[in-house]
Amino acid sequence: VDEVEGPRGEWWELDPTVAHLNHGAFGAVPRTVLAEQRRWHEAVERNPTEFYWRTLPREMNAVRRQVAAFVGADPGRCVLLPNVTSGIGLVLASVMLAKGDEVLLTDDTYPGVRAAAEAACARVGAKVVTAALPADDLSSAAIERAVLECVTGRTRLAIIDHITSPTAVLVDVIRLTAALKASGVCVAIDGAHAPGSIPLNVDVIGADFYTGNFHKWCCAPRGSAFLAVGEGHQAEVIRGVVGSRAMEGYPTGLEWRGTTDYSAILSTPAALTFLQQLGWDDVQAQNRAMVTRGAELVATALHAQPPPRALVPMVSMPLETNDADAVHRLREELATRRIEVTLVVCRRQGYLRISSHLYSQLDDFTRLAGALTELLPGRRDGPLTKS
Ligand SMILES: Cc1ncc(COP(=O)(O)O)c(C=O)c1O
Repeated sequence: VDEVEGPRGEWWELDPTVAHLNHGAFGAVPRTVLAEQRRWHEAVERNPTEFYWRTLPREMNAVRRQVAAFVGADPGRCVLLPNVTSGIGLVLASVMLAKGDEVLLTDDTYPGVRAAAEAACARVGAKVVTAALPADDLSSAAIERAVLECVTGRTRLAIIDHITSPTAVLVDVIRLTAALKASGVCVAIDGAHAPGSIPLNVDVIGADFYTGNFHKWCCAPRGSAFLAVGEGHQAEVIRGVVGSRAMEGYPTGLEWRGTTDYSAILSTPAALTFLQQLGWDDVQAQNRAMVTRGAELVATALHAQPPPRALVPMVSMPLETNDADAVHRLREELATRRIEVTLVVCRRQGYLRISSHLYSQLDDFTRLAGALTELLPGRRDGPLTKS
């Protein structure tokens, strides 16, 4: 990977005047993968009927087999979906919640996942329970402890992040899943950030459901994800399905979302091949090393202790505020300086989250550190000051 240091930014369409430190949010698609997606669009237009009736079912079967091998899941348990939002939606549509049941989330749960869980609970008189997480301990152990303390006899489902979105914690989902299942809790893992960012073996985790995105760290076009469903749950999942092929059952009946664009899913093998050719271990090690080094630079600007060596290609650092408006203002101030990062409030604390992928350079982090030095300390009218 080091040998390609020079031109690798050119493998993407990214605007070179912007410091793109926000890969974890929306990904970024390499030119070669975009070309593959264009080929699929052209194939549709040459003969739409041929494509939707004959090519698509055949190709979806092939992609399902390929991505299942990549994530370490039995292909018979996997369905291809546009995103994790829809994966979580299917889980909540299929786990039979009843009045009085509890669905366990955490302070770090992604807002869209929380909204879906709250809506599902409200329909039947169940309730969401949120495990409170400490603002000063970004460890898996703290999450595991807080989650397990919230388990009651009424806990029906726990939705656990594999890598937390606001705080970038890699959770020991094997250990936590085993503990939850031992208490009779159904476990769904939200692996939105996992495929491509860490080695992944879904079947070893043993959760009832696991859903993950390919359009983040695998650099697939947006609209590519999967859901792996444990045996015993597949019939339940079908019940939640709409679409004119629902009667086909599992898995193809779940994958037909009507007449829409399936090119992101069909281009996912090209994205996997692109990164595979560079070597997954090297790619992941390089991203962790770069974000660790970048976090050191940023920590200096924040007058903070450098965070520990990154286990994933993202690092979150606490800010000296918990004011959501101030955090939003800082994000927009940075954007006007052509620096894109995630800034959020969760765990009653503001956090800055930085991401690194192969196109990232140390200079991007230096720019961020410089901007923070300028924007944060001693500025009474600075973006972290209440207006
Ligand atoms: C932890 C987590 N869950 C779910 C999602 C939603 O993913 P998508 O927008 O691809 O549906 C995200 C998106 O960033 C996330 O970080």
